[in-house]
Amino acid sequence: MTEEKLYLYPRWIRLWHALNALFCLLLIASGISMQFSNPKVPLIRFDIAVSIHNIFGILLSVSYLFFFIGNLFTWNGKQYKIIFQGFYTRLMMQFKYYTRGIFKGENPPFSITKESKFNPLQQFSYVLIMYIIVPFVVISGFGLLYPDMIPTNLLGISGLHLTDLFHIVGGFIISLFMFVHIYFCTIGKTPVSNFKGMINGYHEAH
Ligand code: HEM
Repeated sequence: MTEEKLYLYPRWIRLWHALNALFCLLLIASGISMQFSNPKVPLIRFDIAVSIHNIFGILLSVSYLFFFIGNLFTWNGKQYKIIFQGFYTRLMMQFKYYTRGIFKGENPPFSITKESKFNPLQQFSYVLIMYIIVPFVVISGFGLLYPDMIPTNLLGISGLHLTDLFHIVGGFIISLFMFVHIYFCTIGKTPVSNFKGMINGYHEAH
């Protein structure tokens, strides 16, 4: 047991994260409202939901660019570089900890350090979301905003419908990720330690 506090979340990543979480919540609420729009019981009035979705979709894209460039030029980006050798075994060790070890009071299999702040499951899910799913949703979103850019026919299917489908599935994955992400963030020294860390920058070790 150690009382060590590690400075893991620089100010720029905390700023990006807060904006990104806010934009995602607004995009999910306006997206769901548009998807299930019913003029008799609108969650958010349709035209307002469209405007919210367009504005915050563009803002999210700008904040994503900030994250991408920030990670390209700072130490934080190294945290997202997966070392593939033995990665599956490390993933399974973390998985076993979350499904069994944690309930037996065992210590986590990987300690958090400045050089490696994510456990293998965190690293895998963050890379998947930030480098595959979010760009996918951003690009398909721009396609829907400027439909002239989309080919009218892709392998016999309407390009617009296909882009829409990709966008919705991607959005759904991000929504699911957010629930799971917040749940896993409660697993820290105390249930609120990781949330405090994203506010003050310091991770509290177990
Ligand atoms: C209200 C919503 C959210 C809350 C409360 C939240 C909470 C947190 C907390 C406490 C951490 C630090 C613990 C850790 O490293 O795992 C974190 C990190 C992170 N979150 Fe979230 N999150 C939210 C939404 C999101 C969304 C929507 C995304 C992506 C689409 C996201 C992506 C990330 C990433 C990539 C990190 C690691 C950042 C880094 O240090 O490089 N989060 N989040």
